[in-house]
Amino acid sequence: MNILILGGGGREHALAWAVQQNPKCDRLIVAPGNAGIALIAECASLDIENGGAVMGFCEENAVDFVVIGPEAPLAAGVADRLREGGVLCFGPSAAAARLEASKGFTKEICDACGAPTAGYARFSEAGAAKDYIRQQGAPIVVKADGLAAGKGVIVAMDEAEALAAVDDMFGGAFGGAGAEVVIEEFMEGEEASFFILCDGENVLPMGTAQDHKRVGEGDTGPNTGGMGAYSPAPIMDEAVTQKALEEIVKPTVAEIARRGTPYQGVLYAGFMIKDGQPRLVEYNARFGDPECQVLMLRLGAQALDLLLAAADGRLEEMQVTWAEDHAMTVVLAARGYPGSYEKGSVIGGLEGLPEDSMNMMFHAGTMADGGKVLANGGRVLNATARGATLQEARDRAYALAEAVEWPEGFYRRDIGWRAL
Ligand code: AMP
Ligand code: GLY
Repeated sequence: MNILILGGGGREHALAWAVQQNPKCDRLIVAPGNAGIALIAECASLDIENGGAVMGFCEENAVDFVVIGPEAPLAAGVADRLREGGVLCFGPSAAAARLEASKGFTKEICDACGAPTAGYARFSEAGAAKDYIRQQGAPIVVKADGLAAGKGVIVAMDEAEALAAVDDMFGGAFGGAGAEVVIEEFMEGEEASFFILCDGENVLPMGTAQDHKRVGEGDTGPNTGGMGAYSPAPIMDEAVTQKALEEIVKPTVAEIARRGTPYQGVLYAGFMIKDGQPRLVEYNARFGDPECQVLMLRLGAQALDLLLAAADGRLEEMQVTWAEDHAMTVVLAARGYPGSYEKGSVIGGLEGLPEDSMNMMFHAGTMADGGKVLANGGRVLNATARGATLQEARDRAYALAEAVEWPEGFYRRDIGWRAL
C-alpha cells in the first residue's frame, strides 16, 4: 500500500522507520519530512493543516493510508476530510481531538465519566479567576484552554506567579488559546505517559513511557517539548495500569463515543501517580514526541499493523508483542532552546553511527544541504537505543549522542535518573 505520514519531527521519523519495515508498505511519503526521513522515504511539501490539500495529494498519489503525526492537523479536521473522501486515516476527528485541543472540554468529560483528575474551575475573565486563586492559595496550576505548543501550563508555586499567569493568558500571551483559562489543584506524585490505541469502540494499551520535560539536569529550568524519554515506565506497574485503564481511559473513550464523536487513533494519557493511584493530568490526541521514538524502536514493523487496525476498527483482533526490553531516547537540542536559538549549524559524525534494530539516530529539526545535515529547529536529533536493561539502553543511547559532532548543540546527561 501507499502510505502518507504527516509531520517532520523525530516522532514522524520513528513512525516512518517502523512503517517502512513492514512488507505491507510499498511506497512511503512523508510531508514535510526532514533530512533523516529523506533517507528512508520520499519527502513532499504540502500544507498539512489543509484538509482539502491533503485530500488532493492523496488522490494524485493513490495514497491508501494516512498517519497524522502532530496535533495541529487533527485540530484542523484533516482526519475528518480524509474519511469523508474515503481515505483510511490514523488520527481522531476534530471533535474527538478536543481532548487535546481544549483542557476545559477534557475536564468536562472527566466529570461526566467520573475519571479521577485534579479539582478545577473554568474562567473566561481575569477578575473571577484571580478571586478563585486567592481563595484556593498556592501551589496551583493555571492553564490556557487551547493549544499553546506545550507552553500554556503554569505550575505556580506562589500566589503572585499564579495571578501573573492569569494576566498573561487573558492579556493574549497565548493568543486565542488563552481566551478561556482552567485553574487546577496542584497534584503531587510521579508522572508517566500511557499510549492507548482506540478504534472508536475498542482500546488496546500500547505501552508506557516517561518523558523529561525540563531543559536542565535534575528536572530544572523551563519546560520543553521533552528532552528525553524511556519505555517502559516502571511506575506504571500492572496494578496502576489496570486502574488507569478501568477508571480513566475506558470511561473516557465510552463517554466520547456516547456523544457521537468516537475516538480513533492513539490516546496519549498523562497521569500523576501517588500511592498507587493514577489521576489524569492531560490527554493528547497523538503520540508523544520523543516518547514515540522509544515505542517505535521497541515495536518495529508491527506498528503498521496496529495503526491500520485502529483506523479500520479491528483492534479487537490485535495484540501488541513486546520484547522483554527497554528503550531510551536522548534529545539533542540547539543551544538556547527552549528560548531563542540559531538555525543552520552543520552537524557532523552522523555517517558512521550504528543504525539497526537496537540503535537509531532519529532526526527531528534537520535539513539536508547538499551532502551536509544542518540544524533546522530547537530539538534536532534523538539518540535512541534498546537494551535488555534500561542501563544498557542508556549506555547505547549516550554512545550515539556522544558520537555526534555538533558544538552548537547540547543534551541532558541524566535521562532516566529516576528509574536508574
Ligand atoms: P500539560 O501540558 O497539561 O501536560 O502540563 C504540563 C506539565 O505541567 C505536566 O506534565 C505536569 O508536569 C504539570 N502539571 C499540569 N497539571 C498539573 C497539576 N494539576 N498538578 C501538578 N502538575 C501539573
Ligand atoms: N513529549 C511531550 C509531548 O509530546 O507532548
